[in-house]
Amino acid sequence: MSEVSLQHIEKVYPHSGKKKSNLKVTDEGVLAVQDFNLNIRDREFIVLVGPSGCGKSTTLRMVAGLEEITRGELYIDGKLVNDVEPKDRDIAMVFQSYALYPHMTVRGNMEFPLKLRKMPKEEIERRVNQAAEILGITEYLDRKPKALSGGQRQRVAIGRAIVREPKILLMDEPLSNLDAKLRNQMRAEIIKLRQRINTTFLYVTHDQTEAMTLGDRIVIMKDGVIQQIGTPQEVFDHPSNLFVAGFIGVPQMNFYDAELALDRDGRYVVHMENVQIIPSEEKQERLRSAGATSQSITLGVRPEHIALLGDGDNMFHGVVEVTEMMGSVVHLHVNACGRDSIIVAQTANLEGPTPVTVKVGNTISFIFGGNVIHLFSKETGRNLEYSEHA
Ligand SMILES: Nc1ncnc2c1ncn2[C@@H]1O[C@H](COP(=O)(O)OP(=O)(O)OP(=O)(O)O)[C@@H](O)[C@H]1O
Ligand SMILES: [Mg+2]
Repeated sequence: MSEVSLQHIEKVYPHSGKKKSNLKVTDEGVLAVQDFNLNIRDREFIVLVGPSGCGKSTTLRMVAGLEEITRGELYIDGKLVNDVEPKDRDIAMVFQSYALYPHMTVRGNMEFPLKLRKMPKEEIERRVNQAAEILGITEYLDRKPKALSGGQRQRVAIGRAIVREPKILLMDEPLSNLDAKLRNQMRAEIIKLRQRINTTFLYVTHDQTEAMTLGDRIVIMKDGVIQQIGTPQEVFDHPSNLFVAGFIGVPQMNFYDAELALDRDGRYVVHMENVQIIPSEEKQERLRSAGATSQSITLGVRPEHIALLGDGDNMFHGVVEVTEMMGSVVHLHVNACGRDSIIVAQTANLEGPTPVTVKVGNTISFIFGGNVIHLFSKETGRNLEYSEHA
């Protein structure tokens, strides 16, 4: 069992004087993490994600005990651990820089934390061999780190963490030193690892793809404040605000100015240019429960949810400025509705024009359905499907 509960956790750093970040500042200092609340379930894989400086590492380091908690309570398996020494928290951590001992072999590196704990020799050997096997590094056990590739070194660093069979495995951007191909490979390795060891994971990254593919739940942070906690599907389908909407998903969501209105039957209708879009039943329901009123909105639509069509009524028109052939899809950069939009069109588009024939300078027509639109308050950026006080 290893549940972790963070309750109203805050981190205040002393004023440093110089930098002008968006973090809240009080007389006390700079609030790097604000009122952080999260209950991590046993064996859950939680990913903290957000831009540089948003407080991810600070949060992780507070869980590890490497950073003092300014306010709030941290519980591990129901026990308050704010003042428990890092070594007594039963936690292991993997960093971006592998931090391996260069003069020791792979085996030596992996044995090290266990020898420190004075574990019997046979048990050390069993655990090291098992971890090496899980991570596919058995054949490198007698090599020194300098004779390994970046990906292999990171496996050793992970191996050194898991031989301790920690209750919680903390990882701070473990893959960001690797090139793109290796990173994809290691991401898959971590998914496999997760299936083979009974550990709770808390994983930090600034990469939304890593967050989406690894996390059971994702915690999206900005300026020290949690923006949303949810499964990858939840944050993708129902982003809580403009920030989350723009942060999750590649290419980025398109945003337009629009108006939300209620028609005579009490049904929500979105007006944009001369086009009218009716939110789906699910969206109607969510907007209604959240008490959304008629107002100017920012409308969000993901590039892959835009349908390219032949010319017709009740659709948008724009001029293609750039086309990027990606293989199975084409990214079309289109100037439409007074701004640049990106459309991801399947090259095997069945209904409209075949996107591969679309050329720069062409005028194209497109539309999107009421099930794929996201409605944000123009004033606050909040998704109108969520009530103000949620
Ligand atoms: N020891 C410190 N003293 C003062 N401020 C600090 C200290 N450590 C971090 N900070 C500030 O706290 C904020 C959060 O830092 P943190 O390292 O947690 O961000 P992060 O989300 O991990 O960013 P990155 O993606 O760049 O690693 C930043 O503004 C940083 O400058
Ligand atoms: Mg960091």
